[in-house]
Amino acid sequence: MASEAEGQWALLATGRAPTNIAVIKYWGKRDEALILPVNDSVSVTLDPDHLSATTTVAVSPSFASDSMWLNGKEISLSGGRFQSCLREIRRRARDFEDEKKGIKIKKEDWEKLHVHIASYNNFPTAAGLASSAAGFACLVFTLGKLMNVKEDYGELSSIARQGSGSACRSIYGGFVKWCMGKKDDGSDSIAVQLADEAHWKDLVIIIAVVSSKQKETSSTSGMRDSVETSPLLQYRAQTVVPSRVLKMEEAIKNHDFESFAKLTCADSNQFHAVCLDTSPPIFYMNDTSHRIISLVEKWNHSEGCPQVAYTFDAGPNAVLIARDRKTAALLLQKLLYYFPPHGKDLSSYLVGDKSILSDAGLHSIEDVEALPAPPEMKIHDQKFKGDVSYFICSRLGAGPKVVTDESQALLNSITGLPKGA
Ligand code: DP6
Repeated sequence: MASEAEGQWALLATGRAPTNIAVIKYWGKRDEALILPVNDSVSVTLDPDHLSATTTVAVSPSFASDSMWLNGKEISLSGGRFQSCLREIRRRARDFEDEKKGIKIKKEDWEKLHVHIASYNNFPTAAGLASSAAGFACLVFTLGKLMNVKEDYGELSSIARQGSGSACRSIYGGFVKWCMGKKDDGSDSIAVQLADEAHWKDLVIIIAVVSSKQKETSSTSGMRDSVETSPLLQYRAQTVVPSRVLKMEEAIKNHDFESFAKLTCADSNQFHAVCLDTSPPIFYMNDTSHRIISLVEKWNHSEGCPQVAYTFDAGPNAVLIARDRKTAALLLQKLLYYFPPHGKDLSSYLVGDKSILSDAGLHSIEDVEALPAPPEMKIHDQKFKGDVSYFICSRLGAGPKVVTDESQALLNSITGLPKGA
């Protein structure tokens, strides 16, 4: 390790990675330590402008230990998952030289340098929106950049997988498949891109962040209990998912929304059925989630073919995928009829791509109050103000990117400490 300019230096890299939502779910591990799943899964990557993690990583000879700050708070890096990601990236680090700064780091020297990591989510971590997927994908991607790791996205995905299973799918944009693999060492359990974000531009995603006071069972412990106790999980993994994944790949390739929506809804429902089949049963959805399912099902039925797909992860939030913008605007009207905002402020009730509000003709709270009852629904007199915290309107998005604008780095380029600390 050498630096022309004697004294202190810090080397930084910043990256941004998206979150993803599975349309064929991963639920259950065959190896807990390596995070190897019992079935393949398929996801869509969400637009990082709306849902992503930004991470700055730094190395410096002056750092005394590996340290990490998440959303401004220092957190421990001692957990096995962080350690696996750090170890695997360091193993693949290559020689690096920055002639201008006079910094030269040999392959074998990376091991001796401690890292500082600062990460920030542009959405509330507590909202239960797959923050670990974006977080680990971003950590692995950005560390890889810093340490000059060869750009092999399959390999990066297998490292991100060891942070959190679903994180391996956030290494790509668009439509992504996580192939479960067969090998015991997990080297073939990697994500591949099925199609990029430009492949099916019509799709619009509306997320209902559902209010919940209940402390949820984490995915990690929930799926462990399911593997140990649910007979339905075995049937799902061995018999249902393999053919469903093939059909899903076809649907994506052919822009076949009807099949895409039917498969997505069926898979979400089966995943939650596995949760109910677990002992003790796990309830991730609540009454609001069920009301949203019923609204979508009735509308799809009345139209004669699916307009919207729904999917729910390990929590009550609904992720709704509309076939196009016109449908998304109609969906928003129906949702806001039943779930109007508490206060008068419409613009903080829908975040992300706010232009969907004007597409739906909703410019003020008075427009929401004047919405007609969805004709396909039988119950019109009841509204559920306060049951949805807010909505996010988004679309499919790209995979991780380097952030070159140094002003967006989360660590100070001289001290290597969080900015503002
Ligand atoms: C329901 O990836 O959070 O969102 O691998 O234990 O970190 P760990 O679990 P995680 O589980 C995600 C489960 C899911 C379905 C999915 O994303 O496929």
